[in-house]
Amino acid sequence: MAAAFLPATSLRLTPFSTLRFLSFFPISNPSPYSLFRPHRRPLFKDSPANSRRRCFCTATSASPSSSDGKNNHGNRLGSKVGEFRKKLRIAEVKGGEDEGLGRVGQSLSVMGWVRTLRSQSSVTFIEINDGSCLSNLQCVMNPEAEGYDQVEAGSVLTGASVSVQGTIVASQGSKQKVELKVHKIILVGKCDSSYPIQKKRVSREFLRTKAHLRPRTNTFGAVARVRNTLAYATHKFFQESGFVWVASPIITASDCEGAGEQFCVTTLIPSSHETTNTSIDAIPKTKGGLVDWSQDFFGKPAFLTVSGQLNGETYATALSDIYTFGPTFRAENSNTSRHLAEFWMIEPELAFADLDDDMACATAYLQYVVKCVLDNCKEDMEFFDTWIEKGIIHRLSDVVEKEFLQLSYTDAIELLLKANKKFEFPVKWGLDLQSEHERYITEEAFGGRPVIIRDYPKEIKAFYMRENDDGKTVAAMDMLVPRVGELIGGSQREERLQVLEARLDELKLDKESYWWYLDLRRYGSVPHAGFGLGFERLVQFATGIDNIRDVIPFPRSPGSADF
Ligand code: 4AD
Ligand code: MG
Repeated sequence: MAAAFLPATSLRLTPFSTLRFLSFFPISNPSPYSLFRPHRRPLFKDSPANSRRRCFCTATSASPSSSDGKNNHGNRLGSKVGEFRKKLRIAEVKGGEDEGLGRVGQSLSVMGWVRTLRSQSSVTFIEINDGSCLSNLQCVMNPEAEGYDQVEAGSVLTGASVSVQGTIVASQGSKQKVELKVHKIILVGKCDSSYPIQKKRVSREFLRTKAHLRPRTNTFGAVARVRNTLAYATHKFFQESGFVWVASPIITASDCEGAGEQFCVTTLIPSSHETTNTSIDAIPKTKGGLVDWSQDFFGKPAFLTVSGQLNGETYATALSDIYTFGPTFRAENSNTSRHLAEFWMIEPELAFADLDDDMACATAYLQYVVKCVLDNCKEDMEFFDTWIEKGIIHRLSDVVEKEFLQLSYTDAIELLLKANKKFEFPVKWGLDLQSEHERYITEEAFGGRPVIIRDYPKEIKAFYMRENDDGKTVAAMDMLVPRVGELIGGSQREERLQVLEARLDELKLDKESYWWYLDLRRYGSVPHAGFGLGFERLVQFATGIDNIRDVIPFPRSPGSADF
């Protein structure tokens, strides 16, 4: 039993040894694990894996006496891999409708990081957090507990990692229903007194400089869990709707958006620490003095993708409905609260579909994932509602319940021109909408509802969008949401070969390099449509966090690629 409380680092097997670790996972009320069962906190439910008390061997080495302790060569080498055990998390201990009261009397152990420690005469209170939920587990300890000497010696400080064993008891305090009466504490990893994440509140700007430690704060822990739920819900929505997930390439030779905002991927510049000492003369050149791309890794210029759409279309015109979900990169020098150089994009592509189908899919998707967050991240959402954006739960509930509205770009321009508001950027038919215009439309004109603007002038949109019959606009749509502005950009694609070729010519794009994309229009072309959703903007929308750099673990933006 003692071995269960040893730090992970000491669990090294010696040949022919057998280690037994007793699990303290409880038996009470087994219930199916269902993340998205509405109106519950299923993240807090028992999973089948821990619904029975288990006492088993997690790692066994071949013992000389075991009958099958020999490998295929008849030697007694090698050992069985242990059974995987899901850890008991604080969320499971304290979760559920009764907030842990059903576990009173249970003996269990948890592992986590000390948030605070305070001593009162002979009782010490240690708040432990393991990241599974916002709340800590209050651990109450008196001097008789094993390991108390570490506490007495001042070694158990905020930030230290510990493993505690004890019994769940009803709490005397009003902040929680239950607490852990500690029998034993093991200091797994000490925390240096320079630890920057102390109880006092610090700014999010400061925490950006501590991106490796910021997930240990309430805000960043909650953002990480909501982001995780949104990712899971994304896959769930598309999988349940019959879409196939497709991995689009990260390195590409084509510029999907045609905006020239790509990062170049090259080995013409050495990739090691020598990079900083590379002379420009080391880059191979043609006789004419241009960069000789034929000597580069791919034999031609290659870039990090700005969008997986073009590749996505190839699979949609074979598998009908697909989606991609991966990182995308843009070298746009936008130092704003909505732009990153590296961000994640979700790009569904629907075959046999037009712009109306596309908008319906985008709306259903957004409502589904927002509902999942409201149903499954209640504690975190209450935290955001109190500390980050008052009323966010109400705002998101509206998104789930109310219908989305659509209007044409032409009508949107008219609305902006009539607005009794001074905008910084000009409003004129043919000009792109700026963030201030988008936010005015969704936040003020439509009172906080998501709004879809459709049928934009073709001059301000990408080459692949389907031309409308008016010859001036394309079947494009942008979904605008409060606080964020553009959350989704999508369109019906130009499926008519000749129209698409003419458009490429008009934009002076090299038809040759799009040969495979044009083939899709040559061989069984179909009307099809899709959209791209910036995942970080979705996390901003769902948490109320105003700077996009705080909703991705390690933000990359102009001048900043730390960690
Ligand atoms: O509107 P965009 O540029 O559309 C496309 O890339 C299409 N190929 C999508 C498609 O139809 N499959 O980008 C889509 C979304 C934007 O609406 C925005 O949410 C997000 O991607 N986005 C960014 N997010 C963070 N940082 C940036 N620099 C972003 N640029 C776009
Ligand atoms: Mg866009």
